[in-house]
Amino acid sequence: MNIIWLGHSCILIEGKDKIIVDPFLSGNPITKKKADEIDVDIVAVTHGHGDHFGDAIEIAKRGATFVAIHEIAQYASRKGVEAIGMNIGGSIVVGKTKITMVPAFHSSGIEETNFSFSGGDPAGFVINSEKIIYHAGDTCLFSDMKLIGELYAPQIAFLPIGDRYTMGPREAAIAASWIKADITIPIHYNTFPIIKQDANEFKKMAEEKGLKVKILNPGEGIEM
Ligand code: NI
Ligand code: MN
Repeated sequence: MNIIWLGHSCILIEGKDKIIVDPFLSGNPITKKKADEIDVDIVAVTHGHGDHFGDAIEIAKRGATFVAIHEIAQYASRKGVEAIGMNIGGSIVVGKTKITMVPAFHSSGIEETNFSFSGGDPAGFVINSEKIIYHAGDTCLFSDMKLIGELYAPQIAFLPIGDRYTMGPREAAIAASWIKADITIPIHYNTFPIIKQDANEFKKMAEEKGLKVKILNPGEGIEM
């Protein structure tokens, strides 16, 4: 299977089902991929912020199942997509994929012109589709990441390292050591100047803890 990083927090999983997580493509300065090129079975969104929710509605309207926390799923279904709501700690099966929602410490408003809606709580996902993939969403470091590592034993972990809105490299290296995935991939950095980071700094700190880190360029993937 292929797992491709489309820049920022957006990953495309090509396993038993095709899944896109956090499809922020329009307006994303580091991706070349356009929303109308994306044809997937599942669109999963970690929280309401525009750099995650992105083109989710447009992509889901082309026949994908939209998955998010209850409040965001309700919002999406009002926009005319087939949405499945869930909440933190729960799992669902969509197609051949099992999706578990796990905690993230962040915020989750949905912004529209002149309006702001509550998007419930922010979340991360453990996605079991051939391989077990952890997408942390936007979050700080929290010690229950140890539990996520123990309970779900993810093989691949995508962790934000951009700082300011999420963990920075130092915290993310500790997160990686608690999750203990076979491969850890840094995300949510260098999209904008305010989250500029040196991914090699993260790589070095994580490798000192005995972990394997792969730094991808936007559009690049790993084959597992
Ligand atoms: Ni956010
Ligand atoms: Mn974000």
